[in-house]
Amino acid sequence: MLKKLVNLWRGNKDFNQDEAFLRSALDLSRLPRHVAIIMDGNGRWAHRRGMPRAYGHRAGVESLREVVRTSAELGLDVLTVYAFSTENWKRPQEEVDILMDLLVEYLHKEIDELCTNNISVRAIGRIKDLPLSAREALAVAWQRSKDNTGLTLNIALNYGGRTELVEAVKSIGVEVSKGNLDPGDIDEKIISDYLYTAGQPDPDILIRPSGDYRVSNFLLWQLAYTEFWLTTVMWPDFRRIHLLQAMVDFQRRDRRFGGLKK
Ligand code: IPE
Ligand code: IPE
Ligand code: MG
Repeated sequence: MLKKLVNLWRGNKDFNQDEAFLRSALDLSRLPRHVAIIMDGNGRWAHRRGMPRAYGHRAGVESLREVVRTSAELGLDVLTVYAFSTENWKRPQEEVDILMDLLVEYLHKEIDELCTNNISVRAIGRIKDLPLSAREALAVAWQRSKDNTGLTLNIALNYGGRTELVEAVKSIGVEVSKGNLDPGDIDEKIISDYLYTAGQPDPDILIRPSGDYRVSNFLLWQLAYTEFWLTTVMWPDFRRIHLLQAMVDFQRRDRRFGGLKK
């Protein structure tokens, strides 16, 4: 036990495999409320295996299943996963189509289990620009799960942090021009209320697999004081053990929010 604790403290990766230890190290009363994940690295994972990128995207769905299940089991409030950015349209049409098809397939296959686990599914992003099949699948999933009271699963689709802010500014502008809102009254709370994540807590932790160290236009406003957890593990290899490791690491952080050490 002592050796494991020392390894954990030193950031020794050997303890990764020990789920029982990670679980015992986790304080369930201090879990993050909101976990955000940039599901990245599918293409490189497939490439390393000499396979087409689609193979990696399909494998990534399995990681999503496991992470969603574990998040619900732990009792997290919100899990936000970045599935398709406003910039991902730049990819070949064939890849975009595969990603949309995988989304539809995921929702159809998983909605029963999501409901059994009391999870509500929401889409965040410019949903109206998604293909009809994706919009329909999202609407069905939302309709079926909207009254569930457990984990909220936000799937970020055609999501861009800058687009989200532009849309919020436009909507606020409309309210100002109608005389419903005084520009002097615009504050951080009002801006938050016009974002896709209105009413939800900001992410406590952002996980980015794949070894890239950037936010890629994800939750720009909401990440103001979020803890970052970066790993070189590719998303298709990301398993519950990595989520648990992130949670344990999170509990060792000293979040000061601009103040002084506790
Ligand atoms: C993440 O994996 C999935 C999406 C962005 C839709 P990538 O497709 O970006 O995989 P890499 O980063 O090229 O390895
Ligand atoms: C971010 O990954 C978007 C998603 C995971 C959906 P990208 O692969 O698109 O980001 P960049 O291009 O490496 O910044
Ligand atoms: Mg990528």
